[in-house]
Amino acid sequence: MKTLQREIAKAIQEARSVSTLEDVRNEYFGRKGKLTLVLRAVRDLPEKDRPSIGKIVNSAKNELESRLEERQAILEGEGSSLDEEWVDVTEPGVYPPEGHLHLVTHAIREITSIFSALGFTRSRFPEVDWDWYAFESLNMPADHPARDEWETFFMDAPSGQKGKMVLTPHTSNSQVREMEKGVFPIRMIDIGKCYRRQSDVTHVPMFHQFEGLYVDTDVSIAHLRGILEYFAKAFFGPDRQTRLRPHHFRFTEPSFEIDVSCGVCGGTGVNEEKQKCRVCKRGWLELGGAGMVHPNVLKAGGLDPAMYSGFAFGWGVERTYMMKEGLKIDDIRTLYRNDVRFLSQF
Ligand code: DAH
Repeated sequence: MKTLQREIAKAIQEARSVSTLEDVRNEYFGRKGKLTLVLRAVRDLPEKDRPSIGKIVNSAKNELESRLEERQAILEGEGSSLDEEWVDVTEPGVYPPEGHLHLVTHAIREITSIFSALGFTRSRFPEVDWDWYAFESLNMPADHPARDEWETFFMDAPSGQKGKMVLTPHTSNSQVREMEKGVFPIRMIDIGKCYRRQSDVTHVPMFHQFEGLYVDTDVSIAHLRGILEYFAKAFFGPDRQTRLRPHHFRFTEPSFEIDVSCGVCGGTGVNEEKQKCRVCKRGWLELGGAGMVHPNVLKAGGLDPAMYSGFAFGWGVERTYMMKEGLKIDDIRTLYRNDVRFLSQF
């Protein structure tokens, strides 16, 4: 009896609609229902057992009937089928949209870690700085025409002893600032924001550069080559080559542009169809500027050029990253438009 009682109670509890409850009622309490049959069987028991067993069965029946009524009231009250509202609590949840770091942040982290393996420490410097650090100390006196290349934003703020205030148009303001710290040898990597009055498909008014500076008593072009070659292989891949091309900057002598061999055509300048590679210029991609620190810059940093020498380089983070990925973004401003459809691809 106990087993049957438990079975019926369970069936009542699990009924999720009025109609299933009706099925339970027929199955157990109907004319040929399992409980009805038990009640009938009591009548056939020997007379002496009938009252006691009859009592047990009857009270079980009454209790189950009131449960049935209760359940019916609940199901009718809800007025809907619980089947439809059934929730599977074990089903995996719906994940909220998850963000990730911007591709430029990824690039900055990777560049930092490659140079730190070579003993370069990342430094930070003001992004609103004096004219002295951005130009004058870099061998570009006031009114020097070379300044025109940096389409500079000047601050509407009073001038000080070090000239006007500017939004740093390059990270080279870090060079003399780092020398002023007076800790040698210098192995610095400065990655920061730069600002120029430019906005078109290949330029944004705010972008990033990474500036390297190595100053010691006996630094040569061989060191410059070695470090940049190491970086290029670590960042772009071991099969990439670099080359130095003569150039001119006011703050380095001699000065170079650094090129890296194109990853798409393998530096040959022609693609598989024997046509000109569409990514590079004749097998090489332009990375950025570098050179041996000009004696006037060392002097501006309080160093004796007869004793100290160094090399420096400054490259664009966005440009370098796009070269690595072989990305051809039609409009570089897309990087900063905050369009998740674009950004979520990286
Ligand atoms: N500051 C230069 C620019 O913005 C890049 C550069 C060239 C930095 C040569 C250097 C360097 O440190 O040595 O175009």
